[in-house]
Amino acid sequence: MAQEGLEEALNYFVFKHKGIYFQTDVTTPEVIDSLEHMEIRDSDVFLVTYPKSGTIWSQQVLNLIFHEGHRKGLEDINNMARAPWIEYNLYNINFDSRQSPRLFTSHLPYYLMPKDLRFKRGKIIYVCRNPKDAMVSFYHFYKLFSRLHVTLDLETFLDLFLSGRVICGSWFDHFRGWYTHKEDYNILFLTYEEMKKDLRSAVMKICNFVDIKLDDQAVDTIVEKSSFSTMRQDPLANYEFIPKDLLDFKKGDFLRKGTVGDWKNTMTVTQSEMFDRVYKEKMKDLPIKFLWDINDEEAGMLK
Ligand code: A3P
Repeated sequence: MAQEGLEEALNYFVFKHKGIYFQTDVTTPEVIDSLEHMEIRDSDVFLVTYPKSGTIWSQQVLNLIFHEGHRKGLEDINNMARAPWIEYNLYNINFDSRQSPRLFTSHLPYYLMPKDLRFKRGKIIYVCRNPKDAMVSFYHFYKLFSRLHVTLDLETFLDLFLSGRVICGSWFDHFRGWYTHKEDYNILFLTYEEMKKDLRSAVMKICNFVDIKLDDQAVDTIVEKSSFSTMRQDPLANYEFIPKDLLDFKKGDFLRKGTVGDWKNTMTVTQSEMFDRVYKEKMKDLPIKFLWDINDEEAGMLK
């Protein structure tokens, strides 16, 4: 049975545009539509993710790769200002006047991204996470939203997640869209799980992809500054700079657990089996293997 007040709270909290849900008050249909014609430079780098897949982690890595001042702790610029979300431009940054190379972040599905990217202008790093962990992380994250006036139980959130009624829509559609259109883009796929298993290798993969050569010491610094424990304490990276009327950090942290397999501590066996059935059906034609547990043998990498 649906939770009381659910529909009303969701209708206030999100709006639907071109097939997916966006948080009211952080963007508009006009902003989303305007991105189609955003001018792309060859040197642009876009970090694209479905929510709760390691976005702010990868953003930290990327910003540390590109900005020596960030690596050396010489600049007081937070990660969202360095690599702004194109669809929620909270600081009203004028993208056109930014110096190259520009870094951007986005949760958009492929079909709402700037069209120029399809002509292989710019580079995209798509980071994904096994969807059970992404769902559990999203479930906890929903408790932080100041403007969502209902606390969802896991059963309800799971239904919303599987039916794509959450912010950014269906995980399955997001992943499928990007994965099956990968030939159209200059794109590197990375997984949260491979970052977790071997962050240094993931940093090197990104460096190779964006053509940046760093010495061992710089790479060591990036790995250290991107660790869960360091990021949690770093005010430029832990996202506590987000206005309180959007996220209420009294109710939890952005950097919550940072592990692989937390879904096992949260989902019941019945919920997990139901998820597996949906996953199997929706992903059956994709040659993908996610890592569901950190001790699994498979590396959890995508080709
Ligand atoms: P959990 O809620 O499972 O802890 P996003 O940035 O896409 O919203 O993803 C948030 C998830 O990434 C959270 O997962 C958060 O803890 C995790 N995360 C953020 N920084 C991390 C890091 N340095 N190492 C591991 N996980 C990290």
